[in-house]
Formats: sequence, structure tokens, C-alpha cells
Amino acid sequence: MKNVTKIGVFTSGGDAPGMNAAIRAVVRTAIYENLEVVGIYRGYQGMIDGDFIPMNRRTVSSIIQKGGTVLKSARCLEFRTPEGRKIAYENIKAQGIDALVAIGGDGTFTGAKLFSEEYDIPVMCIPGTIDNDLYGSDYTLGYDTANNTVIEAIDKIRDTASSHSRVFFVEVMGRDSGCIALNAGVGGGAESILLPEVETGLEELIQELELAETREKSSMIVIIAEGDQNGGAYEVAKKVKEKLTHLDIKVSILGHLQRGGAPSSFDRVLATRMGYKAVHELINGNSCATVGMRGTTIITTPLAEALSKKEFKLDEELLEIANIMNK
Ligand code: F6P
Repeated sequence: MKNVTKIGVFTSGGDAPGMNAAIRAVVRTAIYENLEVVGIYRGYQGMIDGDFIPMNRRTVSSIIQKGGTVLKSARCLEFRTPEGRKIAYENIKAQGIDALVAIGGDGTFTGAKLFSEEYDIPVMCIPGTIDNDLYGSDYTLGYDTANNTVIEAIDKIRDTASSHSRVFFVEVMGRDSGCIALNAGVGGGAESILLPEVETGLEELIQELELAETREKSSMIVIIAEGDQNGGAYEVAKKVKEKLTHLDIKVSILGHLQRGGAPSSFDRVLATRMGYKAVHELINGNSCATVGMRGTTIITTPLAEALSKKEFKLDEELLEIANIMNK
């Protein structure tokens, strides 16, 4: 078991609300445990460029409520090469960093596993992505906030849609994941939800919309996850318009606004618990693992398991409920 004295913390990949709260928790827990902490800017890129900042209790003051990440983020191709990782290792060694906390998604975790194995450096990973698509945790950081952001947007779209008796196709994030689409769709009262995990043919969607029309709905909102097989919202809207020519159809792509904003209470508390756990796991000799929440308990999962397993994150019952509520 390695004696941890100085932790390097970084965020990598797509940012997510709650990342700052996690950084703060890592820094404050480590200092409480008499460890030193160094912030690494722009994830693996900063490791390669030697972009470090010493962290103390005050460097993380008033960041718990902020969206984005104060340590910045990047997607780094160079770290995928052995040469890149060698430079990164030499730089963190020169800093005296002897353990890492990585906050990010599956790309971040893949890099962390490789690096930890190659250079025998302990690493704990915290799942931070609005997509909620990682194995080993019921929730990833940022997912709850993103759901709230999307629901707020749907509510606003509903106001104008009802006023004009329009049909809106709203595209939400989730390249491979329908979590936001399903949850925000149910929470926002969507008439139909298209997800990458569940095949919904266009004919089926058209039938749903025709049925909704017979029920004299004053507006209709179709939520489409960006990764849905039917294509994006523009594509689906175009095809529907070809069949239901009388409908007044509009498209709204919510895009990156879903990634920003102050983290929800849930994400702040989850991030704080995960950051605290990650540091204690390193102190106790755990390595190459992710921190997650199962039920209400914070747990860890070996990185090898987290990366090799795929979890169906959509609640089957919620899928059924969505189909009853939208009638
Ligand atoms: O953070 C995850 C995610 O939001 C995906 O749903 C989306 O496809 C992707 O990131 C887009 O990220 P970027 O524009 O930063 O590459």
C-alpha cells in the first residue's frame, strides 16, 4: 500500500454542474487529513503541459454553487499515446503528486485506468457528466441539474406552444443516453419521447401525434435525445411534416445550455460526498476505482468493471408511465 501525501485533482471531458463542488470536497477533505493538493488545469492536457496550481481551503471558496469547472476541461488526444502519458507522468512526479482524483466521464476513466496501471499511481474517479451513462453509480454529477434545466426550458416552450397551438420537437443532449430525455420528458409532460435505447418508428410517432390531436390538445411537445436512431429533431420534424402537413411545427435544440448553470442541491451534496469518499479511499489504499451512489450509499467499483459493463439506466416503469401520461 502506497503512502499518499499529495493528491492531484483534475476535471476532464465534457464539463458538468457539480464538478466544482467535487473539487472543493477533494481539496478540503485532503487538507483536513493533512495531505497536500495540486489542481491540474485542463485535465490530461494540463498534465502534459505542466499546468498546475497549488490548492488550499481558500482556492476553493465560493465555488460550490458554480457551474462549469474552475480547473477547466479538455479532450486530450496526446494522452492517448505512450509518449504523451510519459510526459504527463514526469510532470506530476516533478510536482511530488503521488495520487490522483479524476472527475469526468468514460474517456476520463479510460485514461485514468491506463495511466494508473502503466505508472503504478493510485487513482480514484468521480463520475461527472450530464448524460448519466456510467456504470457504477445511479447518478452522475450534473445529471440532476441538467434535468431541471431541461424541464424549465420545456415549461417555457409549452407556454408559447399552447398559445399558438403548435407542435414542438425539442432536442436534448445524450449522444448514447436517453436519461435526460426520459426524465425531463416525464417531468415536462411531453407527448412523446424518442430515445437511443428504445426503438420508436416514425409511424408510431405519427400515430401518437394523431391520437393526441383527437384529444384536442392545445400543444404537443416531442422530446428527442440527440442520439435517437431517427436522426435529430430537425430530421424528425421534417418527416412528420411530410405526413401531417396541417400541423404547425417548430424545432428547438437546447444544446449546451444544458451543461451550464448552478448545480442543484442534489448535485452539490452528491459531489461533496463523492469527493470526500475519493480522498478517503486513496488514504485507505484503494486505487483504480470509481466512486458512485447506489440507493443512498456511496460505494466504489473497480475501474475495470466500471469500464467493461454497460448499465441500462432507464427505469422500465418510468418508460411505461411516460406512455400512460402522454395520452
Ligand atoms: O457531456 C456529455 C455531452 O453533453 C453529450 O450528451 C454530447 O453529445 C456531448 O457532451 C457534446 O459535447 P462537446 O460538444 O463538448 O463535444
